[in-house]
Amino acid sequence: LGLKCASDPAWVDEARRDLDAILVDHAHCEMKAASNALSLATRHPGDLALVRALTDLAREEIDHFQRVVGFLERRGLRLGAPPVDEYAARLRRAVHDMPRDRVASPLVDRLLCAALIEARSCERFKLLLGVVDETRDSELHAFYTELFAAEARHYQVLVDLANAAAGGDAERVHARLERAAECEASIVRALALSERGGERTTIHG
Ligand SMILES: [Fe+2]
Ligand SMILES: [Fe+2]
Repeated sequence: LGLKCASDPAWVDEARRDLDAILVDHAHCEMKAASNALSLATRHPGDLALVRALTDLAREEIDHFQRVVGFLERRGLRLGAPPVDEYAARLRRAVHDMPRDRVASPLVDRLLCAALIEARSCERFKLLLGVVDETRDSELHAFYTELFAAEARHYQVLVDLANAAAGGDAERVHARLERAAECEASIVRALALSERGGERTTIHG
């Protein structure tokens, strides 16, 4: 999905060690994905196709959120306040600071950031499939399998929306996405380095 670096193998070890932390972080990520889609839809009421697509996405993310909450409940875990999302904040800043080109706009840039966040989650769900035992924890394994496919689909939905928002200039949008993916990769590498040996078990970043 256009990612420029793989997750640090240490992330998988950490996830294996503390799957509960992954589940808690995951719940927050689903809620953030939903509220981000809703806030974008609210800011662009003039484009009903965009509003429709983003509210469909938000509905799906809310459904994911509620299902993760179900896993938390069954495991007796608490949700707690959302942690500061250093990854998403850095990504937004980096994309905002990229050289402006003809397709750059607040909407296109936010859609591209959201697409990359979906791509990274997709990669991590794939990694989590190797962490969760299919026979011992079949429900969670099936859930991650479904989410892996959903995140890949969301990535494409968001890239398509960015293309539409840029008046169909897919070539320039692609070039901008590539540059944004370079930023994303360096953020992921930097976070992995600064968190090595720490307790960083997040779905993205
Ligand atoms: Fe989701
Ligand atoms: Fe998603």
